[in-house]
Amino acid sequence: MNAELAIVLGSGLGVLAEHLQIEETLGFAEAGLPVSHVAGHAGRFVMGTLAGKKIIAMQGRIHLYEGHDAKSVSSGIRWLHEHGVKRIILTNAAGTLRADFPPGNWMMLEDHLNLTGTSPLEGGANFIDMSEVYSRAWRNEFLAESQRLAMPLHQGVYAGLRGPQYETPAEIRMLRTMGADAVGMSTVLEAMQAKALGMEVLGFSCLTNWAAGISSDGLDHADVLATGKIAASAMVSLLTASLSKISL
Ligand code: HPA
Repeated sequence: MNAELAIVLGSGLGVLAEHLQIEETLGFAEAGLPVSHVAGHAGRFVMGTLAGKKIIAMQGRIHLYEGHDAKSVSSGIRWLHEHGVKRIILTNAAGTLRADFPPGNWMMLEDHLNLTGTSPLEGGANFIDMSEVYSRAWRNEFLAESQRLAMPLHQGVYAGLRGPQYETPAEIRMLRTMGADAVGMSTVLEAMQAKALGMEVLGFSCLTNWAAGISSDGLDHADVLATGKIAASAMVSLLTASLSKISL
């Protein structure tokens, strides 16, 4: 399995893989990676074509909250790097902290807050520059394409926490003060690992729910998955349009 472009699919977004012309699949265990048991995370690599471009989709991912460490959580990124990947799109499901970014919409990551308290780069004094984790040039391409498609695409800062519990309203107020626009339990460690390996990185949050305390509704993983499924089709259109234009 080998491709220059990869997409990591978050909670409920595995349906994106159904739009691939599949050539090969490989389970995480067969690839020598730890396996996730969270509902909505199948745990396999799928190689195929989307918009005529060869890509590897990582369907499901491994989380800190399952008891894995930062090295395990980022192992899929290193595997992809070993299999030729130079550009990577990370997707996730997230709660929105912004009244003007309602659930059901997508937010492209401008930057992140790594609040997991750990790093996949621990073990060496490598001091990697994190001033532009998410490629500005690539973001601009996607933004232009979203405008052509008349698809609402917000941009903001993603706060990555360990979980597994959702946040308290007080924690959400704190995150807002810290500059977060969306909150989730993944992506930041993978993005740091990909950046350290020299990959071009892009990140998208599917805003599946209001963060705690913002609306009177409670939070439920089933709602997160259901909203992800509905919003996935807009991302498929954006990816298809954007990828058909990039040269690999
Ligand atoms: N908080 C943290 N992670 C999430 C949320 C949330 O509100 N929604 C989806 N993943």
